Amino acid sequence: MSELTVSRLLASVTESAPQAIDALAKKYRGEGRPVIAFGAGEPDFDTPAFITEAAKAAIDDPHNHHYSGPSGLPELREAVAEYTTAYAGSVFTANEVAIANGGKQAIYNALSAILNPGDEVLLPAPYWTSYPEQVKLAGGITVPVSTDVDSEYKTTVADLEHARTNRTTALIFTSPSNPTGAVYSEDEIRRIGEWAAEHRIWVISDEIYHDFVYEESRFVSISRFLPREQLIIVNGLAKSHVLTGWRLGWIVSTASVIDAVKNFQSHTTGNVSNISQRAALAAIRHGQDFPEQMRNVFDRRRRIAYELIRTFDKVRVSNPRGAFYVFPDVRALLDGTLRHGGEPVTTSLQLSRLLLEEIDVAVVPGEAFGAPGHLRFSYALDDAALVEGLERIRDFLAARSHPAGYAAVSSSASRIV
Ligand SMILES: Cc1ncc(COP(=O)(O)O)c(C=O)c1O
Repeated sequence: MSELTVSRLLASVTESAPQAIDALAKKYRGEGRPVIAFGAGEPDFDTPAFITEAAKAAIDDPHNHHYSGPSGLPELREAVAEYTTAYAGSVFTANEVAIANGGKQAIYNALSAILNPGDEVLLPAPYWTSYPEQVKLAGGITVPVSTDVDSEYKTTVADLEHARTNRTTALIFTSPSNPTGAVYSEDEIRRIGEWAAEHRIWVISDEIYHDFVYEESRFVSISRFLPREQLIIVNGLAKSHVLTGWRLGWIVSTASVIDAVKNFQSHTTGNVSNISQRAALAAIRHGQDFPEQMRNVFDRRRRIAYELIRTFDKVRVSNPRGAFYVFPDVRALLDGTLRHGGEPVTTSLQLSRLLLEEIDVAVVPGEAFGAPGHLRFSYALDDAALVEGLERIRDFLAARSHPAGYAAVSSSASRIV
């Protein structure tokens, strides 16, 4: 009898690396190790009380105890349309909105709604770890478009045009970016939007970090430069209102995409929990000022992180102007000088292992984002831990990558190691 196995498709899907690192960091912490984790992709704040109170009231209301429509509560779709109109600068209506089980599911459902087998999706790299897996699950083929620290991790029309073929169906565009923190300027976005419009390419604009931009950067939605029939906005309140665990996101697009997503959700998940939808409604109606409070805290930590990482030996880093991540280029550290368990460290995956095992610092390796030779630091952790974790790495690198200079820094490094 032949052995029963999981499908080839699902066997080819890998675990989300940030979630895996986070789990390992939590396990080590549980064992009593002083782990400092830069892996989390979520704010380290609590969901605000006015949202949890709305959810408690929703639990007691029998209207919320039953199935509701698969594309979301009408009031919430209306509120999301108004919310998107306000921040994105174009007018949207409720029938252009579908509520999904998190931004993650929103992206997958959007891809499922527009891709046919073999369709190509352009994906500027470094990219958020789930995009290529979702493209594959939806039957598409990811075409990564590389960027690097010198271009501040931003793609250009020339790069996109180079990667375009007659199978190119969509572009996934993320500004501010996870993992790099890059924020495109209005001009850069206009050029990309006009290029996509000219070539009739769908743009999935992931706007989940739109509230988190710093310094002179401004959030601009690519929707302003695209015809409606090519636009899919994905967003949610996970990051802006600390609803990561509540699982609520959405798609804003043409009625045909929204209908397709509604039908898809009607057979796969049904409605998102009514309690989470009511919580989201409260967040949108009463929480306009909340993201700004977090943004101020993140901005302070961002400056601390950027300034400290710049002092790391052999590391290059661009100023992250959005989201809550820094993405240093560590390729110069991977020449084999560093060793782990006697083996030379030549990949960022090995480097992240070394840092976790030897100095109890968890970071996500660039391999997870299509950018080997980099590390992602989330600065969604408190200031003291942020500084201590980064100083551990700085001292460790100084001690290890310059054995001759070891004596000078060994006292602080050995205290840490
Ligand atoms: C770029 C990006 N898009 C979408 C999401 C999905 O967020 P959620 O599914 O929690 O709404 C994340 C979460 O990390 C993200 O970083």
